[in-house]
Amino acid sequence: MRLTIQQDTLTPELFLTLYRSVGWDAPGVEQVRVALANSTATFTAYADPEAETEVAPEPVGMVRLIGDGGMSFYIKDFAVIPSMQSQGVGAALLDALERHVCDVIEPGWGVSLELISSQDAVAFYERHGFEPRPNDWDGPGMLKMIRA
Ligand SMILES: CC(C)(COP(=O)(O)OP(=O)(O)OC[C@H]1O[C@@H](n2cnc3c(N)ncnc32)[C@H](O)[C@@H]1OP(=O)(O)O)[C@@H](O)C(=O)NCCC(=O)NCCS
Repeated sequence: MRLTIQQDTLTPELFLTLYRSVGWDAPGVEQVRVALANSTATFTAYADPEAETEVAPEPVGMVRLIGDGGMSFYIKDFAVIPSMQSQGVGAALLDALERHVCDVIEPGWGVSLELISSQDAVAFYERHGFEPRPNDWDGPGMLKMIRA
């Protein structure tokens, strides 16, 4: 399989398709539109047909980066469609995201890349260098939903 990673082309409609493909309850399309517009970057993975055919590349995964550009970045909405998981799509998306962070920060800066993992993805993130929390220094990641 040949993979292409596109940056900042993710539409709200495609976001919702990929988001729902992994069983997550999606917000409304307008809420997604605002979130994408204010993201630092989005990355979408496309699986290209092997041979020269009329078949268009299929979108198979996405990840969204938010952050302050200086000290802290956050990974959101990382999803690969079930039929394409465990074939390196997630690794390719994460690689593109990390290269982008390196490109936008100044030489010598260290920044944190943070996330809350799903239970199933802990091994994936650990394999890519993320430290789980709680640990000897930090408590657990915490989250609060706020509704207007
Ligand atoms: C978590 C997720 C994004 C990872 O994407 P992915 O495409 O499956 O990731 P990869 O294929 O790069 O790696 C997954 C596993 O496949 C294996 N793998 C990678 N490339 C492979 C290949 N070419 N052939 C066989 N196995 C392979 C790796 O050993 C890896 O194992 P690990 O999980 O222990 O690290 C994806 O599984 C997913 O969408 N899960 C459901 C939603 C979710 O939980 N998202 C995370 C929210 S925080």
